[in-house]
Amino acid sequence: MPKLVSFTRLCQWLCLILLMLLKTKCSDDVEMTFIRSAITKGAVCLDGSPPAYQFDKGFGEGVDKWLIHIQGGGWCESTKSCLVWVNKTNGVGSSTLMQKFNFTGVFSSKQEFNPGFYNWNRVIMRYCDGASFTGDVEKVDPATNLHYRGARIFNAILDELLVKGLNKASSALLTGCSSGGLAAILYCDKFRAKLPAISRVKCVPDAGYFVHVKDISGKYHFEKFFTKIVKLHNSEINLPSSCTSKMKPGLCFYPQFILPNIKTPVFIINSAYDSYQVQNILAPEKADSHDSWSACKLNISNCSPPQLKILQDFRSDFIKTLRSGMGRSIRNSASRGMFINSCYSHCQTGNQINWLGDAASKLDNKAIAEVVSDWFYERNTSQLIDRQHVLPQQC
Ligand SMILES: *[C@@H]1O[C@H](CO)[C@@H](O)[C@H](O)[C@H]1NC(C)=O
Ligand SMILES: *[C@@H]1O[C@H](CO)[C@@H](O)[C@H](O)[C@H]1NC(C)=O
Ligand SMILES: *[C@@H]1O[C@H](CO)[C@@H](O)[C@H](O)[C@H]1NC(C)=O
Ligand SMILES: *[C@@H]1O[C@H](CO)[C@@H](O)[C@H](O)[C@H]1NC(C)=O
Repeated sequence: MPKLVSFTRLCQWLCLILLMLLKTKCSDDVEMTFIRSAITKGAVCLDGSPPAYQFDKGFGEGVDKWLIHIQGGGWCESTKSCLVWVNKTNGVGSSTLMQKFNFTGVFSSKQEFNPGFYNWNRVIMRYCDGASFTGDVEKVDPATNLHYRGARIFNAILDELLVKGLNKASSALLTGCSSGGLAAILYCDKFRAKLPAISRVKCVPDAGYFVHVKDISGKYHFEKFFTKIVKLHNSEINLPSSCTSKMKPGLCFYPQFILPNIKTPVFIINSAYDSYQVQNILAPEKADSHDSWSACKLNISNCSPPQLKILQDFRSDFIKTLRSGMGRSIRNSASRGMFINSCYSHCQTGNQINWLGDAASKLDNKAIAEVVSDWFYERNTSQLIDRQHVLPQQC
C-alpha cells in the first residue's frame, strides 16, 4: 500500500513538472500579427510586404498597461545595401522572412522573470524598414521595388494597437533596442501625444543612445552613414523639428541633439562600452586602415593597452555626451533616468540574464528590471553610472 501512494505521488509530480515545462514553452511563444490592410495605405516593409508585430495580452492588474517595444536591427543607407536587406533571413527588410521572437526578459509573462511588467500588454513592433521607422518616400523605383516607408509602418501598428485598447492605457512604456531604441527616442513625444493626458507615459531606449564623437582616425565616419540614411529614406520630415530647424538632418539622428527638447520622461539603458558603437562609431573599418582593431573588437580581452586607453576615452566622451544630451533636466530624475553599465554588449532588456540575473550587468546591486520599474513608478531616483568598472566588462 505505501508503495502505491508513493507511485501516485510520483505521477503527480511528473505531471506537474510536465505542465510547468509546457507552460514555460507556451508563454514565451507569441504569434505574429500581419497588418495586411496597411498595404493599401502604403505602409509596408522595404520589399512591399505587410508590417507585423507580436502581441501578448495583459492580465490581472496589467490589463490596461502597455509596453510597446520597437525591434532593432541596424540601418540600410543605399539602394545597394537595402537590396541586400530585403533578403536578410532575419526579416529586417521583409515580413515574409520574419521568425517569431521568444518573449523573454522585459517581454516575459512570468512574474519571477519580469516583476515590473509581466502582466502588462506586451508588444514587439517588428522592424523591417531599415531606418528606425522614420522613412516616408511615396515614389517606388520599379527597378528595385524598394519602399522607404518606415514612418507609415510605425503609425499603422500604433493605430491598430490604439483600437485594441492602447487608447485607454493607464500606463504605457515605449521601448526599443538599438535602431529601435533610437526610434523610441525619436517618437517619444509623438507616442505620448496619442495617449490620454491622464495616463503615465514614459520612454526607455535600450542601446539606442548613439553618440556623435570622433572615431579613431579623428573623423566622423558614422555621421556620414546617418546622413545617407536620412537622405535615402526622406526621414527629415519625421525627425523632431526642434532639432531639424537648427541642425543638419543627419545630426538629428543623434539622441544627444534631440533629447534636450523631449518633454516626455526618458530612461536611457546603455553600456558606456556598447559593442555596436565601439565597432561602428569608434573603430569602423573605414577608420582602421591597418586593420589593427579587428581582434580587439571581436573580443575585448585581445585589446592592447593603447587600445584600452582609447576605449576609456570613448567611455568618458560617452558619459559627457550623456550629460549634455540630458540638458538641464539632468537632476530631475523623474524626467530623466539612466542605467549605464560597462558591459561589452548591445541591447540588454530582452535578454533574461541582463534584464534580471547577471551580477555583472547590475549596478548598486540592482538589476536593470528593478531600476526601470522603480523609475517608472517614481519610487526612487535612478541615474546610475558604473564608476567601479572603468574598463569594458564581459557580461
Ligand atoms: C534577393 O532574393 C531574390 C529572390 O530570391 C533574388 O532574385 C535577388 O537577386 C536577391 N537579391 C540580392 C541583392 O541578393
Ligand atoms: C525560442 O525558444 C525555442 C525553445 O526554447 C528555441 O528553440 C529557439 O531557438 C528560440 N528562438 C529564438 C529566436 O531565440
Ligand atoms: C574572449 O577571450 C577570452 C580569453 O581568450 C575567453 O575566455 C572569452 O570566452 C572570450 N570571449 C568571447 C565573447 O568570445
Ligand atoms: C533607492 O536607491 C538607492 C541606491 O540604489 C538605495 O540605497 C535606496 O535604498 C533606494 N530607496 C528606496 C526607497 O528603494
